Amino acid sequence: MRAIFHTQYGPPEILKLKEVPKPVPAEDELLVKVHATTVNRTDCGFRKPDYLIIRLFNGMFSPKIKIMGSEFSGTVESIGKKVSSLKVGDEVFGLSTKNFGAHAEYLTIAESGSIAVKPSNFSFEEAAAVCDGLMLANAYLKDLDYTKPQKILINGASGSIGTAGVQFAKYFGANVTAVCNTKSMDLIRMLGADKVIDYTQTDFTQDGNDYDFIFDAVGKSSFFKCKKLLKPKGVYVSTEFGFLAQNVFLTLLTPIGGGKRVKFPIATDSKEDILFFKQLIESGKYRAVIDRHFTMSEIVQATKYVETGEKTGNVVIDVVNRGD
Ligand SMILES: NC(=O)c1ccc[n+]([C@@H]2O[C@H](COP(=O)([O-])OP(=O)(O)OC[C@H]3O[C@@H](n4cnc5c(N)ncnc54)[C@H](OP(=O)(O)O)[C@@H]3O)[C@@H](O)[C@H]2O)c1
Repeated sequence: MRAIFHTQYGPPEILKLKEVPKPVPAEDELLVKVHATTVNRTDCGFRKPDYLIIRLFNGMFSPKIKIMGSEFSGTVESIGKKVSSLKVGDEVFGLSTKNFGAHAEYLTIAESGSIAVKPSNFSFEEAAAVCDGLMLANAYLKDLDYTKPQKILINGASGSIGTAGVQFAKYFGANVTAVCNTKSMDLIRMLGADKVIDYTQTDFTQDGNDYDFIFDAVGKSSFFKCKKLLKPKGVYVSTEFGFLAQNVFLTLLTPIGGGKRVKFPIATDSKEDILFFKQLIESGKYRAVIDRHFTMSEIVQATKYVETGEKTGNVVIDVVNRGD
């Protein structure tokens, strides 16, 4: 099968499309013929690790995981003899954030892993493009008490995590203020944001308001800049560690005073969450935001584009439809 392979850490050019052996599913695994996958920021972070923690997990000097790709959709090609909940021919989608492997024509995944039948109202491309952003949005936003009014600000609302965050928070009835670029304002309004701030015109940290929760989905602000916008017991979360990993330390220190605080949740995928994402999508209240499509042989261009930090939503790799 064809896969995008790398044997060292480095720039996008180390990614090579080559023939590798087709994986064989174990007794409790499925073999999925991949129709679509994505290039996301996690793929990039593993290919060129900025953080020591990635090297501790994936190899200090060279990567243990040689085929990236955490989001996938496709068709079940074969199943191990202990698999009972899915069958050959099922159209599926999901996440593989521990073993990756979706930048390939075939992927194996445990039946107990983050895989479910694809939402009936989504194409393969749409289904591949939603799970990573939703996993992050879910990890950051799910614990809010939505039985009370929640006023949330989402910075970086046009990214993969941000577009998921806006829709997730609206699904649960929160009041959402979203911060994005001029070009993304109409999209973000369409996704349901109650108020949209153009960061090229207005510094949202000067646009004072009492928020219960500030979600910096692009990690470009800080707790100290946002603190004044929070209610007395308001919470700040960011997708980035922040300067000198301050968000980790502040997560430990800020609860002591009982006032405004920082949280730094660790997002992990689960089958339960994928089943919830399917339900959310099939409710008709969630849309996939796809910026661009690339083919497998365009992986270097796709990765470079993702690394600009300027994509709107998600970048899809069409493994089947535009096979080259
Ligand atoms: N904690 C985790 O486990 C985890 C996992 C994955 C990713 N991340 C991090 O999460 C962040 C977001 O990831 P993503 O995939 O959603 O990113 P992304 O898709 O690359 O999105 C970034 C978005 O933010 C917008 N943006 C850029 N500068 C901005 C600014 N100053 N203010 C507001 N918006 C701005 C960009 O649009 P314009 O340039 O058009 O404005 C773009 O749409 C990244 O920093 C990534 O490293 C964390």
